[in-house]
Amino acid sequence: MSGGKKLRIAIQKSGRLSEKSLETISSCGIDFSTDSRTLKCAAQNFPLEFLFVRDDDIPTYVYDGVADIGIVGRNELDESGYSLEVVRDLGFASCRLSIAVPEGFDYQGLSSLEGKRIATSYPRILSSILEERGVQASLVTVSGSVEITPAVGIADCICDLVSTGATLRMNGLKEVEAIYWTSAVMVARSDFSQDEERSAILSRLLMRMDTVNNARKKKYVLFNLPADRIEDAARIVGGMKSPTVTPLLDSAWVSVQSVVGEDRFWSVFEDLKAIGAEGILVMPIEKMSD
Ligand code: PRP
Ligand code: ZN
Repeated sequence: MSGGKKLRIAIQKSGRLSEKSLETISSCGIDFSTDSRTLKCAAQNFPLEFLFVRDDDIPTYVYDGVADIGIVGRNELDESGYSLEVVRDLGFASCRLSIAVPEGFDYQGLSSLEGKRIATSYPRILSSILEERGVQASLVTVSGSVEITPAVGIADCICDLVSTGATLRMNGLKEVEAIYWTSAVMVARSDFSQDEERSAILSRLLMRMDTVNNARKKKYVLFNLPADRIEDAARIVGGMKSPTVTPLLDSAWVSVQSVVGEDRFWSVFEDLKAIGAEGILVMPIEKMSD
């Protein structure tokens, strides 16, 4: 197992994605220390090496082979134009790309952007959307501080990422239309599977991620039930192998254990109460394999 090769992952150095990206890895039982502000570090108990970079550069690094995989916003991937393989949709750090205008801009829809100067860091995504909608505008590409461009007179409005909206408010801009939605994905080079040793490491990592993820979406439920309602309970809990039933000292009652999807939890809870379940305990599940 210690063949020597390590899988190299590119992670955002600081920003919206950083913390959750590291959490995704550490929840897989992979230990590392990031306190030294180095650009590179290796995990202590898994053949994984981290590269801490700007999120905008992650698709390029993965494409060029500087890193094998990366965690990045789908926006950066789409904007890069590289066709990388999305190996997992991670779902965190979700935000939107929106049109925002200064006070006094009469916005009636995308057609109001006709002939206007729009500042953005996402010219590829924006131009494809404008083209789709038949709007002709001139794009002013800037790599940061997009929100100040109308105030300094180099753009009429902007198209930028919005999460809480605080940045826009602080700069006197109003979000008028969201045109694209994004969240974090894990990407790999599309020909990556040819590197057998590193592919095997990636499979191990993904297996751990999936196990943790499965568990997060489920709750472990334990309750006492009148013994004659067990069929009803099995029907309510449903969707998996029969629940585990343990006799209690009082033979009129049983203890039941099962796993329930988070999304169904409240309806299951109410239905169980309705058939006389008592002492319902709900516990988080740390790991769960299929
Ligand atoms: C985006 C965007 C804004 C901010 C908006 O930057 O450019 O500055 O987030 O977030 P808010 O609505 O919560 O205020 P990003 O996180 O992508 O940083 P980067 O441009 O430095 O990569
Ligand atoms: Zn960025």
